[in-house]
Amino acid sequence: MITVIPMAREHIAALAQLEKECFSAPWSENALMEELSNPNAVFRVALKNGQVAGYVGMLHVLDEGDICNVAVFSQFRRQGIASALLQSLLDYAKEQKMALITLEVRESNQGAQAFYRTMGFEFVGLRKNFYDKPREHGVLMSRSVEE
Ligand SMILES: CC(C)(COP(=O)(O)OP(=O)(O)OC[C@H]1O[C@@H](n2cnc3c(N)ncnc32)[C@H](O)[C@@H]1OP(=O)(O)O)[C@@H](O)C(=O)NCCC(=O)NCCS
Repeated sequence: MITVIPMAREHIAALAQLEKECFSAPWSENALMEELSNPNAVFRVALKNGQVAGYVGMLHVLDEGDICNVAVFSQFRRQGIASALLQSLLDYAKEQKMALITLEVRESNQGAQAFYRTMGFEFVGLRKNFYDKPREHGVLMSRSVEE
Protein backbone atom coordinates (compact mmCIF):
# COMPACT_ATOMS: atom_id res chain seq x y z
CA MET A 1 0.00 0.00 0.00
CA ILE A 2 1.25 3.51 -0.89
CA THR A 3 0.74 6.36 1.58
CA VAL A 4 1.78 9.97 1.00
CA ILE A 5 2.64 12.06 4.06
CA PRO A 6 4.41 15.35 4.79
CA MET A 7 8.22 15.09 4.84
CA ALA A 8 9.54 14.92 8.42
CA ARG A 9 12.90 14.76 10.19
CA GLU A 10 12.83 10.97 10.34
CA HIS A 11 12.81 10.74 6.49
CA ILE A 12 15.77 13.03 5.82
CA ALA A 13 18.62 10.47 5.94
CA ALA A 14 16.87 8.15 3.48
CA LEU A 15 15.97 11.03 1.17
CA ALA A 16 19.57 12.35 1.10
CA GLN A 17 20.64 8.82 0.10
CA LEU A 18 17.98 8.81 -2.64
CA GLU A 19 19.24 12.18 -3.89
CA LYS A 20 22.80 10.73 -4.11
CA GLU A 21 21.56 7.75 -6.08
CA CYS A 22 19.63 9.91 -8.58
CA PHE A 23 21.44 13.21 -9.16
CA SER A 24 24.92 14.58 -9.91
CA ALA A 25 24.29 17.57 -7.64
CA PRO A 26 22.28 15.92 -4.83
CA TRP A 27 20.53 17.84 -2.07
CA SER A 28 22.30 17.28 1.25
CA GLU A 29 20.65 16.35 4.53
CA ASN A 30 21.05 19.98 5.62
CA ALA A 31 19.42 21.32 2.47
CA LEU A 32 16.47 18.97 2.96
CA MET A 33 16.29 19.79 6.66
CA GLU A 34 16.02 23.52 5.89
CA GLU A 35 12.84 22.90 3.88
CA LEU A 36 11.14 21.59 7.05
CA SER A 37 11.01 25.16 8.34
CA ASN A 38 10.40 26.90 5.00
CA PRO A 39 6.78 28.14 4.98
CA ASN A 40 6.76 28.06 1.14
CA ALA A 41 7.92 24.45 0.90
CA VAL A 42 5.48 21.60 0.26
CA PHE A 43 7.48 18.38 0.55
CA ARG A 44 5.83 14.96 0.64
CA VAL A 45 7.14 11.44 1.13
CA ALA A 46 5.67 8.20 -0.23
CA LEU A 47 5.79 5.12 1.96
CA LYS A 48 5.32 1.67 0.46
CA ASN A 49 4.46 -0.82 3.18
CA GLY A 50 6.03 1.59 5.67
CA GLN A 51 9.33 2.02 3.77
CA VAL A 52 10.46 5.36 2.28
CA ALA A 53 9.98 4.85 -1.48
CA GLY A 54 10.24 8.37 -2.90
CA TYR A 55 9.55 12.03 -2.42
CA VAL A 56 8.47 15.23 -4.09
CA GLY A 57 9.11 18.89 -3.26
CA MET A 58 7.46 22.08 -4.46
CA LEU A 59 7.95 25.74 -3.62
CA HIS A 60 4.66 27.62 -3.39
CA VAL A 61 4.93 31.35 -4.17
CA LEU A 62 1.74 33.40 -4.63
CA ASP A 63 -0.48 31.29 -6.91
CA GLU A 64 2.33 29.33 -8.55
CA GLY A 65 4.26 26.22 -7.63
CA ASP A 66 7.70 25.17 -8.84
CA ILE A 67 8.52 21.51 -8.43
CA CYS A 68 12.15 21.22 -7.37
CA ASN A 69 12.49 17.53 -6.51
CA VAL A 70 10.92 14.26 -7.61
CA ALA A 71 12.67 10.96 -7.02
CA VAL A 72 11.75 7.34 -6.38
CA PHE A 73 14.15 4.57 -5.31
CA SER A 74 14.88 2.37 -8.33
CA GLN A 75 13.35 -0.76 -6.76
CA PHE A 76 10.03 1.09 -6.34
CA ARG A 77 9.76 2.60 -9.84
CA ARG A 78 6.89 1.93 -12.26
CA GLN A 79 4.52 1.19 -9.40
CA GLY A 80 2.69 4.52 -9.42
CA ILE A 81 4.70 6.08 -6.57
CA ALA A 82 5.70 9.32 -8.36
CA SER A 83 2.15 9.61 -9.73
CA ALA A 84 0.74 9.39 -6.19
CA LEU A 85 3.25 12.00 -4.98
CA LEU A 86 2.49 14.43 -7.81
CA GLN A 87 -1.26 13.88 -7.40
CA SER A 88 -0.92 14.89 -3.77
CA LEU A 89 0.74 18.16 -4.87
CA LEU A 90 -2.02 18.76 -7.42
CA ASP A 91 -4.66 18.19 -4.72
CA TYR A 92 -2.83 20.67 -2.48
CA ALA A 93 -2.60 23.17 -5.37
CA LYS A 94 -6.37 22.91 -5.97
CA GLU A 95 -7.16 23.41 -2.29
CA GLN A 96 -4.88 26.45 -2.24
CA LYS A 97 -6.48 27.81 -5.46
CA MET A 98 -3.12 27.92 -7.17
CA ALA A 99 -3.08 28.60 -10.92
CA LEU A 100 0.06 27.06 -12.40
CA ILE A 101 2.75 24.49 -11.64
CA THR A 102 6.11 24.53 -13.41
CA LEU A 103 9.22 22.35 -13.35
CA GLU A 104 12.56 21.89 -15.07
CA VAL A 105 13.99 18.58 -16.22
CA ARG A 106 17.22 17.65 -18.01
CA GLU A 107 16.80 17.50 -21.79
CA SER A 108 18.22 13.95 -21.80
CA ASN A 109 15.88 12.72 -19.05
CA GLN A 110 13.26 11.32 -21.42
CA GLY A 111 11.81 8.98 -18.78
CA ALA A 112 10.96 11.82 -16.40
CA GLN A 113 9.57 13.93 -19.28
CA ALA A 114 7.32 11.02 -20.29
CA PHE A 115 6.20 10.72 -16.67
CA TYR A 116 5.38 14.45 -16.42
CA ARG A 117 3.38 14.28 -19.67
CA THR A 118 1.23 11.50 -18.14
CA MET A 119 0.51 13.98 -15.32
CA GLY A 120 -0.68 16.69 -17.75
CA PHE A 121 2.51 18.75 -18.03
CA GLU A 122 3.41 20.25 -21.40
CA PHE A 123 6.61 21.54 -22.95
CA VAL A 124 6.96 25.32 -22.51
CA GLY A 125 10.53 25.99 -23.63
CA LEU A 126 14.23 25.36 -23.13
CA ARG A 127 16.39 26.94 -20.46
CA LYS A 128 19.82 27.06 -22.08
CA ASN A 129 22.62 25.44 -20.05
CA PHE A 130 20.38 25.29 -16.98
CA TYR A 131 22.23 22.27 -15.55
CA ASP A 132 25.84 21.50 -14.64
CA LYS A 133 27.63 18.15 -14.20
CA PRO A 134 27.13 17.65 -17.13
CA ARG A 135 26.21 21.00 -18.67
CA GLU A 136 22.83 20.54 -20.30
CA HIS A 137 19.71 22.46 -21.31
CA GLY A 138 16.69 22.33 -19.02
CA VAL A 139 13.26 21.57 -20.44
CA LEU A 140 10.66 23.83 -18.83
CA MET A 141 7.25 22.17 -18.45
CA SER A 142 4.06 23.42 -16.87
CA ARG A 143 0.40 22.62 -16.29
CA SER A 144 -2.49 24.63 -15.05
CA VAL A 145 -3.99 23.41 -11.80
CA GLU A 146 -7.62 23.31 -13.03
CA GLU A 147 -7.91 21.07 -16.09
C1 LIG B 1 10.89 9.85 -13.05
C2 LIG B 1 10.51 9.04 -11.80
C3 LIG B 1 10.31 9.99 -10.63
C4 LIG B 1 9.19 8.29 -12.08
O1 LIG B 1 8.79 7.62 -10.89
P1 LIG B 1 7.84 6.32 -10.90
O2 LIG B 1 7.35 6.12 -9.50
O3 LIG B 1 8.54 5.20 -11.54
O4 LIG B 1 6.65 6.81 -11.84
P2 LIG B 1 5.18 6.13 -11.98
O5 LIG B 1 5.27 4.67 -11.64
O6 LIG B 1 4.21 6.95 -11.20
O7 LIG B 1 4.95 6.32 -13.55
C5 LIG B 1 3.68 6.67 -14.09
C6 LIG B 1 3.76 6.66 -15.60
O8 LIG B 1 4.76 7.60 -16.05
C7 LIG B 1 5.44 7.08 -17.21
N1 LIG B 1 6.84 6.79 -16.87
C8 LIG B 1 7.41 6.74 -15.65
N2 LIG B 1 8.73 6.46 -15.75
C9 LIG B 1 9.01 6.34 -17.06
C10 LIG B 1 10.19 6.05 -17.80
N3 LIG B 1 11.37 5.83 -17.19
N4 LIG B 1 10.12 5.99 -19.16
C11 LIG B 1 8.94 6.21 -19.79
N5 LIG B 1 7.77 6.48 -19.14
C12 LIG B 1 7.81 6.55 -17.80
C13 LIG B 1 4.71 5.78 -17.56
O9 LIG B 1 3.64 6.10 -18.43
C14 LIG B 1 4.21 5.34 -16.20
O10 LIG B 1 3.10 4.48 -16.28
P3 LIG B 1 3.35 2.88 -16.53
O11 LIG B 1 4.36 2.43 -15.51
O12 LIG B 1 1.98 2.30 -16.30
O13 LIG B 1 3.85 2.74 -17.93
C15 LIG B 1 11.60 7.97 -11.46
O14 LIG B 1 11.95 7.26 -12.63
C16 LIG B 1 12.87 8.55 -10.86
O15 LIG B 1 12.99 8.74 -9.64
N6 LIG B 1 13.89 8.82 -11.71
C17 LIG B 1 15.18 9.34 -11.23
C18 LIG B 1 15.07 10.73 -10.70
C19 LIG B 1 14.54 11.69 -11.74
O16 LIG B 1 14.91 11.66 -12.90
N7 LIG B 1 13.67 12.61 -11.28
C20 LIG B 1 13.11 13.65 -12.11
C21 LIG B 1 14.01 14.84 -12.06
S1 LIG B 1 13.31 16.24 -12.91
